[in-house]
Amino acid sequence: MILPIYTYGQPVLRKEAENIDQNYPDLPVLIQNMFDTMNHADGVGLAAPQVGLPIRMFIITLDPLAEEHPEYKDFNKVYINPEIIEESEDQETMDEGCLSLPGVHETVKRSKKIRVKYHDADFVEHEEELDGFHSRVFQHEFDHLDGKLFIDHLSTLRKQMIKGKLNVMLKGKARSSYKMKQVKA
Ligand code: NI
Repeated sequence: MILPIYTYGQPVLRKEAENIDQNYPDLPVLIQNMFDTMNHADGVGLAAPQVGLPIRMFIITLDPLAEEHPEYKDFNKVYINPEIIEESEDQETMDEGCLSLPGVHETVKRSKKIRVKYHDADFVEHEEELDGFHSRVFQHEFDHLDGKLFIDHLSTLRKQMIKGKLNVMLKGKARSSYKMKQVKA
């Protein structure tokens, strides 16, 4: 089932999300709905707060990048209660967007490599070192769980440049190809 994506201005996007345990109600259904929602919106990541739930979980698909990066073929993963335990000092700049901020694309500087811990959909714990797009998308989604958005990383000048687009969202008048839950003007 496709869920509406909460857009900029919705308070849930600014909340500190909470860890969950295996008893979280209907978790497999929620995970499936999140994949349906992300795929329908052509996203590569989606965090639970973006569908209105302040819980520490996100999903990532790298399959859309498989043409150029065959190692990402069928890459679809669930991350529950994730932690970043190490970040490389080495940073890189990449273009980012966010389904909660339709029409906004900006370059963001982040660590190249990270070491992470998380639970998968079966609550099995994993510890991994991530690089490339995987590291990038993980850091973007992880921010969502702390109430952060990629635009928080921008310079004052770049923030000023996108102010108009943000104001349109705050009026509940954003447009996208997918279903959104916008703030009421
Ligand atoms: Ni996002």
